[in-house]
Amino acid sequence: MIPIKCEEEIVKMREACQIAAQVLDKLCSKVAPGVNTYDIDQTGKELIASFGAKSACFNYQVGKRSFPAYTCLSVNEEIVHGIGSMKRVLRVGDNITIDVVVLYNGFVGDNARTILIKPVSEEMEYLVTSTEAALFQGIKQARSGNRVGDISNSVQKFVEARDLAIVRDFVGHGIGRLMHEEPQIPNYGTKGTGIQLRSGMTLAIEPMVNLGKPEIEVGPDGWTALTRDRKPAAHFEHTVLITDKGPEILTIAKN
Ligand code: MF3
Ligand code: CO
Repeated sequence: MIPIKCEEEIVKMREACQIAAQVLDKLCSKVAPGVNTYDIDQTGKELIASFGAKSACFNYQVGKRSFPAYTCLSVNEEIVHGIGSMKRVLRVGDNITIDVVVLYNGFVGDNARTILIKPVSEEMEYLVTSTEAALFQGIKQARSGNRVGDISNSVQKFVEARDLAIVRDFVGHGIGRLMHEEPQIPNYGTKGTGIQLRSGMTLAIEPMVNLGKPEIEVGPDGWTALTRDRKPAAHFEHTVLITDKGPEILTIAKN
C-alpha cells in the first residue's frame, strides 16, 4: 500500500521538508577546512530543535541497534550513514555528505547533499557534480503515470554514461509519516517497470554514486557505509511530491 497524501498531509509534508532544507543549508555553510564532523552534528541537533522539530535519525532503530547521531555525515570514501566524530577533521580536497531527516508535526522531510572543500581534484568535482545532475534526471521522471523504474533507469543511465558506479545496497523510498514508506526507489532498473506513480505520492529520491567500484562495506561502528575500494562517493537527495503538473521538490529552502 502506497500512501497518497491528501491536501492537509501535503501542507504538513511541505513544512517538515522546509525545515529539513533550511537545516541542511545552514549546516552546509558551516563546512570549512579544520571543522570536525562532531561539531557539525551538534550544530544540526541545535538547529533542528530551534525549528521545534526532531531528528528522525537519532535513535533510528535497525534491529537492536539505534543510530547515535542527529545527522548523517559521510566524508570521502564514506557513502552514507556516517557518524560525526571529533577525530574526523575536514581538509581541503575532501567532500562531505550531509543528510538531514527531520520529523515535524507528524511528518518527515529528508534531504542530503555532498559538498566540496575546495580546491578538490578534477575527478572529485566530476563525481559530485554528476551525482547532483543524476538526482535531477531522476526527479524529472517523477511524474504521475510514470513508473518507479522510469526514475531508476534514468538515474542509472546518466551515471553509467559518465563511467561512475551506482551503489545498489541502498535505495530511495516513499516518505511521509514514516521516514521509509513504500515504494523503494532503486537507482538502477528498467524503464516501464515497477509501480505507477500517482499525484499525492511523496518520494525521497537519492542516488549514491562511487568514483570507483560499486561495492560497499559497513565500518566497525556498524553504521557507516563506505566504498570497498576507498575511493570517494557522493550522495544527493530530495523529497519530491508528485502532482498533476509534475514533480514538486519539497526540500528546496524558500528563504
Ligand atoms: N536519508 C537517509 C535515508 O533515507 C537517512 C537515514 S539513516 C539513519 O535512509 F540511520 F540515520 F536514520
Ligand atoms: Co532518504
